[in-house]
Amino acid sequence: MPQWSPQTYLQFADERSRPFVDLLARVPGERRTIVDLGCGPGHLTALMRSRWPAAEIVGVDSSPEMIATATAENTDPGARYVEGAIGEWFPDEPVDLIISNAAFQWVPAQLEIVPRLREHLTPGGVLAFQVPNNFRGPSHVLLRELAAADPYARYAEGAALSRGVTAATYLDLLAGPGWTVDAWETTYLHVLAGEDAVFGWMSGTGARPVLQALPDELRPQFVEEYRSVLREAYPRQPYGTVLPFPRVFVVVAQDVV
Ligand SMILES: C[S@@+](CC[C@H](N)C(=O)[O-])C[C@H]1O[C@@H](n2cnc3c(N)ncnc32)[C@H](O)[C@@H]1O
Repeated sequence: MPQWSPQTYLQFADERSRPFVDLLARVPGERRTIVDLGCGPGHLTALMRSRWPAAEIVGVDSSPEMIATATAENTDPGARYVEGAIGEWFPDEPVDLIISNAAFQWVPAQLEIVPRLREHLTPGGVLAFQVPNNFRGPSHVLLRELAAADPYARYAEGAALSRGVTAATYLDLLAGPGWTVDAWETTYLHVLAGEDAVFGWMSGTGARPVLQALPDELRPQFVEEYRSVLREAYPRQPYGTVLPFPRVFVVVAQDVV
């Protein structure tokens, strides 16, 4: 499994946190027990804590690097972090809220796993998540095209797969008797600072599987070519580089009878 770098990922922490704030705003009511699936380096816990001061929060992530960072930097006595995979790790007891920000797109079987998460909610519980839906954007299209060309194709085959799911698909999957679903899509115009900012963004997330699949001697050449096509697709403006980023949000609430 490709590795995550908490430092590279946190380079754009503000932009990556904003959708979580928007997601939290749509989660109703008091929540005492919370599981955050794909919690990353734990920087989003503070946002949940300010909303629910007394909640017990468990962050779960399959990356040992992310869990090590989250645990080392944790100053919240009501939060803890555990290594575990989405679809394999489940809470011992049902919880009031299962939340996930920008993680389900990494789970190939997500359309089977996500509906089953509802079984781990208390009555009136909520499942809330956000996933990127930017896989048709130039950042991903160019990545796939370059990865499919020689001399990279034989190493990168399969590593650049996109897993975009629309808000309508999730709505159809999760709505039903006893469940109310609020699903929507928003396109953020992230304005990124610095040179080759879109490459910096992609190297922390979507491009990692391809970069890590390439042998060391080919990677610098790939990086240079990818940087160059990204520069053309996302020209730097005096105020920064604009990365349009569609994201899908879903809040599934169990009806209280
Ligand atoms: C884009 S980061 C999101 C981190 C954090 N939720 C945030 O919004 O900043 C995706 C996270 O999902 C984790 N992840 C990917 N696949 C996973 C899986 N199958 N099970 C658990 N975590 C996974 C990664 O290790 C990474 O920390």
